[in-house]
Amino acid sequence: MKSIVVANWKMNPATMREAKLLFEATRKAAERAKSVSVIIAAPAVYLRELRSRYKGRRVSFAAQNAHFEKAGSFTGEISMSQVRDTHAGFVIIGHAERRAMGETNADTRKKVAAALACQLTPILCVGETTRSGKGEHFIYVADQLREGFNDVLPAKVARVIVAYEPVWAIGASKPMSAGEMHEMAIFIRKTLQAKGLNAMSVRILYGGSIDETNAVDMRRNGDVNGLLVGRASTDAKKFATLIDVLNDA
Ligand code: PGA
Repeated sequence: MKSIVVANWKMNPATMREAKLLFEATRKAAERAKSVSVIIAAPAVYLRELRSRYKGRRVSFAAQNAHFEKAGSFTGEISMSQVRDTHAGFVIIGHAERRAMGETNADTRKKVAAALACQLTPILCVGETTRSGKGEHFIYVADQLREGFNDVLPAKVARVIVAYEPVWAIGASKPMSAGEMHEMAIFIRKTLQAKGLNAMSVRILYGGSIDETNAVDMRRNGDVNGLLVGRASTDAKKFATLIDVLNDA
């Protein structure tokens, strides 16, 4: 099965010129990696130009966030239909860095529904901030999943991607172990199944300190369909290598 790799550029790079260079290097790697689907989550101001210049089919585009309301007085926000209008196909929802700025489970619930209504594929991020060893993080993640999927009709479940990103592993020195991810992937499916949803149709990604050295292990042993990559995705060389090794795995 194809691997999905989301390049979360976050608030990088500084200029459109650099964005084009990074895109070009990523595009080349994606073009030769037949078994990897690359999704670039560029800053919203770069999306339309990158998308319109690209004539191929191997790379897809995502917004890093969008509002759940259709339109109106929401200074600084962009709507799902505006994202769709750039011809991006995906939108990241509830990233830990957005949640840290105040985004709630109720917001993600509305955003997932709004994305689906605009024919965008939501990439719903979940993940606990800390782990105590007592397993409370499972309860925390289950709440995020139950809310996030609350307004998703059973027929649309397969359209949603879940990105599990333990906050303590984002921007860290190493990812969570693939064994722990495997356990979490089972838990995610169980939680969705208990909600009456066809959990086997949901694609699951892991994110947090993934780079070209650990991507294959996580993909092979973490029970995931792919990876969400932050820092390593803005280093053109590292990211091209990551795509290559995943393609060969
Ligand atoms: P990182 O970020 O790969 O730099 O740890 C991942 C993310 O926040 O999506």
